[in-house]
Amino acid sequence: MALTSPWTHRHLLGLEQLTAAEIVSLLDHADSFLPSCKDPGAKRTDLAGKSVVNLFFENSTRTRVSFGLAARRLGAEVIDFAVGGSSVSKGETFVDTARNIEALGIHMVVVRHSCPGTPHLLAQHLRAGVVNAGDGAHEHPTQGLLDLLTIRQRLGRIEGLTVALVGDIRHSRVARSNIHGLLKLGARVIVCGPPTLVPPEICAMGVEVAHDLDRILSECHVLNVLRIQFERQKGPNFPGVREYFHLYGVTKERLARARQGVLVLAPGPINRGVELTPEVADGPSSAVLDQVTNGLAVRMAVLDACVKAVG
Ligand code: NCD
Repeated sequence: MALTSPWTHRHLLGLEQLTAAEIVSLLDHADSFLPSCKDPGAKRTDLAGKSVVNLFFENSTRTRVSFGLAARRLGAEVIDFAVGGSSVSKGETFVDTARNIEALGIHMVVVRHSCPGTPHLLAQHLRAGVVNAGDGAHEHPTQGLLDLLTIRQRLGRIEGLTVALVGDIRHSRVARSNIHGLLKLGARVIVCGPPTLVPPEICAMGVEVAHDLDRILSECHVLNVLRIQFERQKGPNFPGVREYFHLYGVTKERLARARQGVLVLAPGPINRGVELTPEVADGPSSAVLDQVTNGLAVRMAVLDACVKAVG
């Protein structure tokens, strides 16, 4: 399956480095994999003879499973690297561990790490392709792409839309990848959350800042509801979860005041009753399960494109 425009990158480190045309070519490529995502019996051979290692130094369920499944569906061999039982815990450096894994003949490394820039470091040292599956609060490019794909699928376009990223912007790599991708494709982006969770420097990325969700609701075509990253917060950033929910929780009542046809996205895992209510998460405005299916297609597209650039 060919990409619509030439893709020459061995690595996908972030959406910041990509052009709008490269992003669109990946979305189109992902679209072409959607039928095989929906058919679990479909076995492709695009990556037969290739091997992909999942190198996850941070907790992950859906992203790790999604990358593993994407690689297997394309016929690749997948190695899941368990950090707990590895030589990293014996003092081996991160780069040495990765080089040793590469010496086993790995073509692609999918890496998640709490330290921003880790995938970039690996990309400098390995011949294999590197895909960033989340580096600290920096970027999570495949999540950004699957959000873009879901918006394009549901609303038919991205250019000219107003998209609000709601919640914990400060600690969110999903927010940063969304901002880069959405702005490149011509959307207007509003980041909305408590002042303590919206860093002032975010304006330099070209987004608008709002702290009152109710005031922007009627303008937004999309609400992308981000999880409060409690595990990354050093101390309390707001008085309590109930107050947060009162001001920023996406409820049926708030949706009734939103633009007609508003699309609700959430990268997951969702804290039901904190960022959004179960009736919204499971309701007709929500595309959370489509996001998961699209995530598989995006990861198939990214692995296929990068492996082919590795040669
Ligand atoms: C996101 C992440 O890890 O950054 N989740 C994911 O990839 N499944 C968002 C989150 O954890 O809130």
